[in-house]
Amino acid sequence: MSAVEAAQIVFDGAICGVGGFTPAGSPKDVPTAIAHRAEALHAEGKPFKINMYTGASTGETCDSALAKAHAIGFRTPYQNKKDLRAEINSHGCDYFDMHLSEPAQDIRYGFMPKPDFAIIEAADINEQGEIILTSAVGNVPTFCQLADKIIVELNAAFPPTMRGMHDIYMPLDPPVRREIPIYSPSDRIGDPVLRVDPKKIVAVVRTNHPNEVGRFTPLDPITERIGANVADFLCAEMQAGRIPASFLPLQSGVGNVANAVIRSLANNKNIPPFDVFTEVIQDSVIDLIREGRVRVASGCSLTLTADKMQEVIDDIEFFHDKLVLRPAEISNNPGLVRRLGVIAINTALEADIYGNVNSTHVCGTKMMNGIGGSGDFTRNGYLSIFTTQSTAKDGAISAFVPMVSHVDHSEHSVKIIVTEHGVADLRGKSPIQRAHEIIEHCVDPQYRPLLREYLEMSAVAQTPHTLSCALAMHEEFLKSGDMRNTRWENYKR
Ligand code: COA
Repeated sequence: MSAVEAAQIVFDGAICGVGGFTPAGSPKDVPTAIAHRAEALHAEGKPFKINMYTGASTGETCDSALAKAHAIGFRTPYQNKKDLRAEINSHGCDYFDMHLSEPAQDIRYGFMPKPDFAIIEAADINEQGEIILTSAVGNVPTFCQLADKIIVELNAAFPPTMRGMHDIYMPLDPPVRREIPIYSPSDRIGDPVLRVDPKKIVAVVRTNHPNEVGRFTPLDPITERIGANVADFLCAEMQAGRIPASFLPLQSGVGNVANAVIRSLANNKNIPPFDVFTEVIQDSVIDLIREGRVRVASGCSLTLTADKMQEVIDDIEFFHDKLVLRPAEISNNPGLVRRLGVIAINTALEADIYGNVNSTHVCGTKMMNGIGGSGDFTRNGYLSIFTTQSTAKDGAISAFVPMVSHVDHSEHSVKIIVTEHGVADLRGKSPIQRAHEIIEHCVDPQYRPLLREYLEMSAVAQTPHTLSCALAMHEEFLKSGDMRNTRWENYKR
């Protein structure tokens, strides 16, 4: 049927499990049709909102279209679209932020209601309900198992030859869960196809849309320096024998810094070809597979620009044993991250001088994107690294403050922080030692005196603070627009 007809099946207040992970694999025409339906109903003064579970962020045709239509009641887990962010921060919809390894099991455990609908994207489907997914898996196996009805977008931009790229595996739930038998990033333990009850499929909508993944901005000197600092640090760790000579699998977060880090590692010829065990596989990884620098990449999505995705499709035979797509609860599984010894590299919005990291809330109150998989990997990684530019907004914001305004990753999980200025190695250090390490190696030089003063004026303690000034840099930014104007005496009580 058409997307418009399929959208009619979805009722006001329905809980929809939306397929995909990032814009990759996320349905496109049906969510847009639902958004149009909501707009029409709202114009008649009638209510209409859907509630959404996703894998991670989705595309413009899904999150943005629905947010602009004010058609989302609740939404979890990760998002990154401007319109949805505005809707969340004005409380137009309820948003709850979760580790990406957890929504599938939390829904199965009954912690959150089961979905009424699964809305998913497929490359192929047959009468037995065998589905070949497109460029991501996300939480689709659980959504399809628990939903009453399944709506499938059959996307002609992804050929049936995608078969074999996915490894569909659902763990048993406690008390009978066993170990997940992945011992190397390339291991395949599941089914290449998703099997659903064909009686549940209420609509198949034909579409033809390439991935809606935006291009990266070219590397700038700052992101390049951050990437090089991470690569030099890891190389030195390997030479010191703290990383095995065969290297360890890498997880690298989303965005431009993450892309720069992967590129710098690959350019460092002292580092041998490595495996990637991550959630989002970006363009740079595809190039590195071709160059022989990455051996295999395991993830939840191929978040590739349309051209790069086409390149993979055109040479699918070559990529079949080098790319594996897993459900989010497997790609991000904390036990596997610990077992495989994954080196986790993620980006912070801000960190404090003691090593606590805020990845999600601007000035402690406004949601940026969400924690994503950064917590799954950081808490369990062999080495947990955070990268950030030392300042934001042309220097008006320091990425380092006395106390973070929101904590996503605590001092107990954060091992290394890297900026364009250098590397702070926090391993085996007390809070005061960590503060010196961070201020002298990572903080922008124009903010170092301010943070040194903060440390000096705070009474000696395990973790020194002057509580009336702990958030003064944030307050100063909100008041004058520039943290550089902070004077402790104006805040100290
Ligand atoms: N306070 C306020 N704003 C800040 C800030 C701070 N401390 N630090 C950065 N910003 C602003 C930037 O100025 C920029 O604003 P703009 O969009 O108006 O230009 C914006 O935040 C994004 O900053 P940028 O430096 O471009 O960061 P990024 O694109 O590398 O993203 C995160 C950084 C933290 C938002 C992103 O990595 C994220 O969402 N992380 C959480 C999820 C995650 O880690 N997933 C990966 C797991 S695999």
